[in-house]
Amino acid sequence: MLHFVIVALMLLPHTCGQNPAIQVLLTNKGLQYGKHVGAEWIQDMLDHVTLPDIQGTFSTLFGPVSYTLSGITITKCDFPEPNVEYSQEYSGFKTSITDLSVALSGNWATKFGILHESGSFDMAIFGVDVTSVVKLEGKADGHLSVSSIICDGEVQDVDIRLYGGFSWIFQPFVHYMKGHIIEEIRKNICPAVQTSIEELESHLQAMNVSFDVNQVLSLELPLSGSPVVSPSNLTLGLKGEFYSIQTHAEPPFKSKPFMMPNIPGYMLSAGVSEFTLNSAAYGYFSAGKLQILITEKMVSAVMKNINTQAEGVFLPKLFPGLPMTLQVYATEAPTFSLQSDIVNLTVRAAVKASAVESNGSSIPLFGVNVVVMLSGKMWIADGKVKGSVMLNNFTLTLASTQVGPFKVDEKKTSGVSEKLAEGVMLPRMKRIQPVNSILTGFIAISSDAQVLDML
Ligand SMILES: *[C@@H]1O[C@H](CO)[C@@H](O)[C@H](O)[C@H]1NC(C)=O
Ligand SMILES: *[C@@H]1O[C@H](CO)[C@@H](O)[C@H](O)[C@H]1NC(C)=O
Ligand SMILES: *[C@@H]1O[C@H](CO)[C@@H](O)[C@H](O)[C@H]1NC(C)=O
Ligand SMILES: *[C@@H]1O[C@H](CO)[C@@H](O)[C@H](O)[C@H]1NC(C)=O
Ligand SMILES: *[C@@H]1O[C@H](CO)[C@@H](O)[C@H](O)[C@H]1NC(C)=O
Repeated sequence: MLHFVIVALMLLPHTCGQNPAIQVLLTNKGLQYGKHVGAEWIQDMLDHVTLPDIQGTFSTLFGPVSYTLSGITITKCDFPEPNVEYSQEYSGFKTSITDLSVALSGNWATKFGILHESGSFDMAIFGVDVTSVVKLEGKADGHLSVSSIICDGEVQDVDIRLYGGFSWIFQPFVHYMKGHIIEEIRKNICPAVQTSIEELESHLQAMNVSFDVNQVLSLELPLSGSPVVSPSNLTLGLKGEFYSIQTHAEPPFKSKPFMMPNIPGYMLSAGVSEFTLNSAAYGYFSAGKLQILITEKMVSAVMKNINTQAEGVFLPKLFPGLPMTLQVYATEAPTFSLQSDIVNLTVRAAVKASAVESNGSSIPLFGVNVVVMLSGKMWIADGKVKGSVMLNNFTLTLASTQVGPFKVDEKKTSGVSEKLAEGVMLPRMKRIQPVNSILTGFIAISSDAQVLDML
């Protein structure tokens, strides 16, 4: 069940000394849900398990008899709900299963001198107790690492029924075999736990901590330190930084520490800081993606749909007969700032207007600087992140003119509110659906999860 919990945590996949820009918090409610799902999964998995053969000898009045139990499969497993809790002491989880009983069947064979006998058997194992403590660590390369700290396995009793061959002769000797069989099973419990933890560890180490988001940006999500485990929750800090794939330039700002809000009653919360948003904006900027050349054709194509009379208003005809172009580009990376449920975006851009001669060379006309400030609010409805955007401030200043001084219409509009109608689906992991999600402030999403379909 630990597999499930940890893998679910790390579906997103250490950068010492850097503040995490994304935090993921798993509450006790989340842990208990993960355990419940994991227990069902283990129950299913046990149906397909074949156990190692058990070999031994017992002595009789006539000499030693050696026996082998082989092809042992689990026929029924009464799997009690395990107990899983956070372990602050070991910075991980403590899992215990008590009073597990398992029914098995397989084949028996005995060898007594030259006499070989064989048949089938049914076995019941009672009172299996397993306690496991695993430690979670963030490795220097940013991967989450899981290791076994404590393991203890106990078996109370077994009962065996032999069938076929001279089983009626050997059945009374089962009594002598029992102690050995109990010990063989007990000895196998912790190595099996260890193997499954190592398997999980190799999955964790193989996970990517960096993803290409699109052709321009990559997102780096290594752990920024070891998970912080408290008695009631577990917090993972992730670097959460976007880079331009092309330049991989480090932005000229750093991530600041932030606190996850305490929202009781949810399984999982994820907080994204403004640093993550700003690194994405910087990534686009440093890749030179925040620029566009607007031609008169583009403008008239757009304007035709709105108002055919409007052509010429946006691009005044300074050189009648010559088409104009506007080169628009960001002069700095746009910046986001977050405060409770408001996100502000400031975009600084420059516009260069030119006239294009028939032989293709362009004549510079004028340049203006533009500052646009937007305010947004976001919320979650119908499993989608939705929002509204308001224009706070729009400032236009004349930067240069090759056509003599003229007055720009310095607009200061505010209050234009636009709903982002469609909304963006909340991120989904394969087979896991967020339910009952809320946004507190713009930065933290708290959600319950529902597993749609296990393997
Ligand atoms: C990790 O990333 C590499 C390259 O980006 C990719 O080829 C590989 O499939 C990824 N592995 C996983 C497990 O996603
Ligand atoms: C996590 O647990 C600690 C200690 O129990 C508690 O102080 C903190 O408020 C919890 N955080 C959240 C977000 O629930
Ligand atoms: C966002 O912009 C508004 C209006 O300009 C301002 O009052 C507010 O303080 C800004 N908030 C942040 C977090 O920058
Ligand atoms: C284009 O034509 C203009 C005059 O109409 C001339 O001044 C300019 O040098 C020409 N440019 C090229 C690249 O031929
Ligand atoms: C708009 O921004 C400019 C500077 O870019 C500033 O001088 C002005 O006070 C701002 N106006 C409002 C209403 O925030």
